[in-house]
Amino acid sequence: MLGLQRRLEFDSVLECARCGTRMPALRSRMPSRCPSCHHDMLNVRYDYAALGRRLPALLRDRRFDMWRYLELLPLRDPANIVSLGEGGTPLIQVNNLGLMLGRSRIFIKDERQGPTGSFKDRQASLAVSAMKESGITECVVASTGNVAISYSAYCARAGIKLWAFLTSMVPADKMREVALYGTEVVKVTSTYDQAKQVAATFAEHRHLFLDRGIRSVAARESMKTLAFEMCEQLAQADVGENNGSRLMFHAPDWYIQSVSGGLGPIGVWKGFYELKQMGFIDRMPKIAVLQPEGCAPMPRSFKAGKEVADVVSDPQTNIATLSTGDPGAAYGLLRSIILEHGGTMEMVSDQEAFRAMHVLAKMEGISVEPAAAVAFAGLFKLIGLGLIGPDENVVVNCSGHTLPVSQELLGDEWARSFDVPQPTAAVPLVAAVPAAVAAQLPQEGLLSALERLDERVHRILIVDDSSDARRLLRRILQARGNYTLVEAANGREALHLATAEPPDLILLDLMMPAMDGFAVLDALKRSETLREIPVIVVTAKELTAQERQRLAGQAQSLLQKGSFTDLDMLDELVDVLT
Ligand SMILES: Cc1ncc(COP(=O)(O)O)c(C=O)c1O
Ligand SMILES: [Zn+2]
Repeated sequence: MLGLQRRLEFDSVLECARCGTRMPALRSRMPSRCPSCHHDMLNVRYDYAALGRRLPALLRDRRFDMWRYLELLPLRDPANIVSLGEGGTPLIQVNNLGLMLGRSRIFIKDERQGPTGSFKDRQASLAVSAMKESGITECVVASTGNVAISYSAYCARAGIKLWAFLTSMVPADKMREVALYGTEVVKVTSTYDQAKQVAATFAEHRHLFLDRGIRSVAARESMKTLAFEMCEQLAQADVGENNGSRLMFHAPDWYIQSVSGGLGPIGVWKGFYELKQMGFIDRMPKIAVLQPEGCAPMPRSFKAGKEVADVVSDPQTNIATLSTGDPGAAYGLLRSIILEHGGTMEMVSDQEAFRAMHVLAKMEGISVEPAAAVAFAGLFKLIGLGLIGPDENVVVNCSGHTLPVSQELLGDEWARSFDVPQPTAAVPLVAAVPAAVAAQLPQEGLLSALERLDERVHRILIVDDSSDARRLLRRILQARGNYTLVEAANGREALHLATAEPPDLILLDLMMPAMDGFAVLDALKRSETLREIPVIVVTAKELTAQERQRLAGQAQSLLQKGSFTDLDMLDELVDVLT
C-alpha cells in the first residue's frame, strides 16, 4: 500500500483490562486471554510519546482512509491489509437541521459511504486483515445484520470461508446480501444473544475461529479510526484554531451513536484517549449512547445507577440491528467512561426513530436505516433536554443502509400513479398522453388539474430578514405539503405582498430592522382586508411578559426558533389552516 512502511517500527504491548498484566503484542497469533487472571478483554498500548512526535510527518502524505493510522492499528505487516476502500468518510455539517434545532455545529460522520454501507467496514477490514496475518481460513460470526454483510464482503476478498449466524429478526434483504457473497447463512430463530451462543458452540465443535465481537482487539482498535478522522476533519472545518495557529486534530464536544453491543463508542473513546496521550487533543469528548426503548439495557441500567446492566431477555423493538439484550462488560466500561468524562445514555421509541429518519431525509437529503435514525432521534432528545449547548461541536455516527421501509413510513399515498396509454398509428404518444391526462383528470387544463391533485393549495407568506431562516421554513413547508410560498425580507415588503394577493397564512419573524414584527402585526390588524389572516409568530427571542401581552389576540400561535422540529411546525399549520 502506497506510503505505508512494510514493518512497523513502533512498540506496542497487550495489557489486561482487569489486572494490568502486560504481554507482547503483534505475535503470530494474539492471545485472547490474560495469562494471569484469564480475563478476556486485552488492550493494546502503543508508544504514545514516540508516535506523538512522528505521526504528523507520517500522516502528511497519506491517503485519507483508515489505514493512514497504521502505526496505531494492531497489524504487523501492511502486506496483509484486506481493503475495499474503508474509512475516510466525509464529515458533513448539517445546516438545515442545525437551524431547525438551533445548533450550528452538528456534523454527520457519513459512514453510509463505507464499502458495504456501515461503519462495520472498518471492523471487518482490520479483523479480516488480522485473520489473514494469522493464517486463518475459516471463521464464524454472529450478527444483527451489518457485521455479517461487512465480514462477508471482506472474507470473500480474502478467500476466507465465513459462517454467519443471524437472528431471524434480520430483514430478508440483508440475509440475501450476506448469502450473495458466498457466506454460509444460518438463521437462528431466537434473540441475538442466543444466536451468539449458538455460533460459539458451533465454532467450538468445528474447531473454527470465532469472531469475538467486542472482546476482539482488532474490532475495538478499528473503531478508533473514526475518532482520528473526525478530529482531523473538525480541525479542517475551521474549528481547529489555537492561539492563531492551526491544529491538526480537534476533538468534538459530543460523540453520539446508537448502540447495540457498544463496540463503536468503546473503540471511538480509545481513539480520543490515544489522541490525548499523544498530545494532539486536550480534553475528552462527552459520549452519548442511544438505544431503542424496546431493547435499552444500557440507558435503563444507567438511569437506575446500576454497575452491571439488567439484561433484556425479550427485546421488543423492530430495529433488529440494535437488539443486543445483554451488553455484558461493555456497559460497565461505557458507564465509567461517561461518569468520568461526561455524556449520557438515553433511549428513544421506534416511532421517534422513524420520525427522525424522515426529518433527516427531508431536511438534509440523507437517508439512513432505522438503527442510525435512533442516534438522530437521540440528538433531538438531548437538545430538548438542554444537554447540548448551542456552540458545542457534535458528531453523530451516521451509519447503515437505506432499507425498504418506505411503505411503513410513508403510508399508502406516497406516490401518484398515471397510466401511460398505448400509442397507436392513428394516435401517437405525443397526442395520446395529453388525451389520457384529460381523461384521467376530466374537464380541466393540465396545469390546474395537476395543482388540484392536492386539495386546496394554500398561499403562505414567510416574513424574515434572515435568508437562512426563510430557507429553513421553506424547506419544511415544501417537504410537507403543496403550498404556494411567498417570501418577504422585511416588514414593508411583507405588507406590500400581502396586500397584492392576501395569503392564507403569515409566518412572521419579530426581530427585523426598520419595521419589526410587532409593527407588521399592528398594520395587518388595522387593514380591513388583511386583519383576518392568521399569523404564526416565529421568533428567536425570549419574549417578555409585556411583549406576550402585545401579541395576545394578534398572533395565532408562537414558535420558538431553534427549538421546534418540523412536525411541531406542521401541527401548528394544520391547526391554523383547517
Ligand atoms: C447501523 C448501525 N448502527 C449502530 C450499531 C451498533 O453498533 P455497536 O453497538 O456495535 O457499536 C450497529 C451495529 O451493527 C449498526 O450496524
Ligand atoms: Zn489479567
